[in-house]
Amino acid sequence: ADLGLREIHDYLVPLAREAGEIILQAAQSVSSIVEKQNSTDLVTETDQYVEAFLKNRLLQKFPLISFAFIGEESYSAGVQLTDDPTFIVDPIDGTLNFIHGFPFVACSIGLAVNKTPVVGVVYAPFLDKCYSAIAGEGSWVNEKPLPRIKRTTSTLQQCLVISEFGSDRGPKLDAKCETLKGLLAEKKAMVRGVRATGSAALNFCLVAEGCADLYWELGPWMWDVCAGYAILYEAGGKVVDGLPCQSFEDPGIESRRFLAVRGDMDSVVKEFWEMIQQVEI
Ligand code: IPD
Repeated sequence: ADLGLREIHDYLVPLAREAGEIILQAAQSVSSIVEKQNSTDLVTETDQYVEAFLKNRLLQKFPLISFAFIGEESYSAGVQLTDDPTFIVDPIDGTLNFIHGFPFVACSIGLAVNKTPVVGVVYAPFLDKCYSAIAGEGSWVNEKPLPRIKRTTSTLQQCLVISEFGSDRGPKLDAKCETLKGLLAEKKAMVRGVRATGSAALNFCLVAEGCADLYWELGPWMWDVCAGYAILYEAGGKVVDGLPCQSFEDPGIESRRFLAVRGDMDSVVKEFWEMIQQVEI
């Protein structure tokens, strides 16, 4: 059926901006910070408020009959992403940044059909940057077309890499640290630099925009990446497995193992995979 992706996109862009206004207002006095898994995994009243705001507005406009909804704050174990059209929302991606006023904070709204992102809007209110995309139609930043990725980087040594520590501790953190240490220290793959913004959604957009070559993270959830995925693909980038793999196939938004790259960089991906310290996800 014709879902009217353009109509949906054009509804989501101002909606994300409205959510951004709420986030900016709330940032002036952040209160009621609650720990989830540990003291680095946090949620605030604003996360919950913005998610409820978005859910109401989306389901009013696009009735539940035809659209499902998955949001970070209302998610509970056992909720399954199906092939049905599903809005996948992170009301505040970069909650820790929001609490500290570190400006890489985004409201991320994606629409997936057959588990594939087809519309994505990522709005960063502190930066006033709105990235968006419609599958097959293009990607934009503040309503101007994002250029399709042209530059290809032929070796890992020429890359600026984004990665994140996330809130997982234990073996996963050790594996990340070892991998990053290798990337920074080993002559055979000494990358130009490693950056971390604290927002998975914005990391996808930065690769899409060409400000970084590669983003690697083990751990993000589908709401962190769904909208960013649509934007990256429309800009000409792609996602491969974040753990060494036999194929360059996309592991999917539920995999929690992401290596997002600009353009066609299979040889760089192979070099990267060789540097990865194996770990159970
Ligand atoms: C987190 C951020 C962070 C990433 C984590 C995410 P949240 O999302 O995107 O950069 O490292 O994996 O969970 O919790 O702030 O919405």
